[in-house]
Amino acid sequence: MASALSSSASASSAAPQSTRNFNFLHRLCKLVVVLCFLHISVTLLYYVRSLDIRSAFVRNQQQRNRDDGDPTGASTGPGSEALYNGTGTPKIWKNCPQTSPLLVGPLRVDFNIEVSLELAAKQNPQVGPGGRYRPADCRALQKVAVIIPFRKREPHLKFWLYYLHPILRRQQLDYGVYVINQEGDETFNRAKLLNVGYAEALKDYDYGCFVFSDVDLIPMDDRNIYKCFGQPRHLSVSMDKFGFRLPYNQYFGGVSSMSKEQYLKINGFPNNYWGWGGEDDDIFNRLASKGMSISRPSGDVGKCRMIRHERDERNDPNPQRFNRIAHTRETMNKDGIRSLSYKLLSKEKLALYTKITVDIGKP
Ligand code: BGC
Repeated sequence: MASALSSSASASSAAPQSTRNFNFLHRLCKLVVVLCFLHISVTLLYYVRSLDIRSAFVRNQQQRNRDDGDPTGASTGPGSEALYNGTGTPKIWKNCPQTSPLLVGPLRVDFNIEVSLELAAKQNPQVGPGGRYRPADCRALQKVAVIIPFRKREPHLKFWLYYLHPILRRQQLDYGVYVINQEGDETFNRAKLLNVGYAEALKDYDYGCFVFSDVDLIPMDDRNIYKCFGQPRHLSVSMDKFGFRLPYNQYFGGVSSMSKEQYLKINGFPNNYWGWGGEDDDIFNRLASKGMSISRPSGDVGKCRMIRHERDERNDPNPQRFNRIAHTRETMNKDGIRSLSYKLLSKEKLALYTKITVDIGKP
């Protein structure tokens, strides 16, 4: 009986021990499960965060790839937001969109209205001295110098400034307007003046794109963007003067644009075309000889009007032009921006443009 009692007592004391073991094991398992759960949560958290970083990296890469497509390299600065160091405008800005939301399309261009420099200045208070402008709320995709060869065409220049500043502003460009005034009464030399404009504009600002425009040509559609493209651009593709079509396929006169790189590749423009004609054909030959092609807007978007006028004094057709055009390939390396020489007489930062007066010599 006594041994039966003692065996039942030892059995009852063994039971709580196994229960304690079981409880201990149970708690241990719970702890392991909680630890596993924690581990998985932390791993998941890190994984999600790394996904964010990766997609941001891909976005940056895509942005950079798009920028690489910009021939002027203007967008390869800081990321989508950068500090603005100019005067009087916001401190932080984003890149402007590829297509400006401010464009309106076809425009009415009328030369029978009264315009004055005062009126043009009043209507463009955002344009700074020297004809400089950049958008206030975004970072322009390109830095553009607009170069106009000039002599005694004040009435045309008024129209140009009156019509072009609002267009260029709507195109959200970071631009400056340079009027290159040929001093004296020697024969006019359009291409040499354009070379001077290129050189002088670069002394002012880090322009990556150059638009070369006659003073009497006004675009009739603001979607004809005065900027640079992957290939040299011909902008005045359907002029009223030519019945709104190209006079010939190789025509590169009127208004054109080139990135700095494209311009340097052809050694700039010829300096020895004195008088009217041929220099634009020489430029075309230079581009073709370097394997470049001409990019153009559609005929609709590229419409423009020319202000009718008498032929300028000392700008008669150049009789040597046909001979010169036939030899572009042989002459272009010797004659161009690398051999440009001129005398700078004055550089004035006026209300809507920078006026540069030069002595470019004579034929
Ligand atoms: C001249 C060019 C001119 C074109 C259109 C050509 O014969 O060589 O300089 O732009 O005619 O007038």
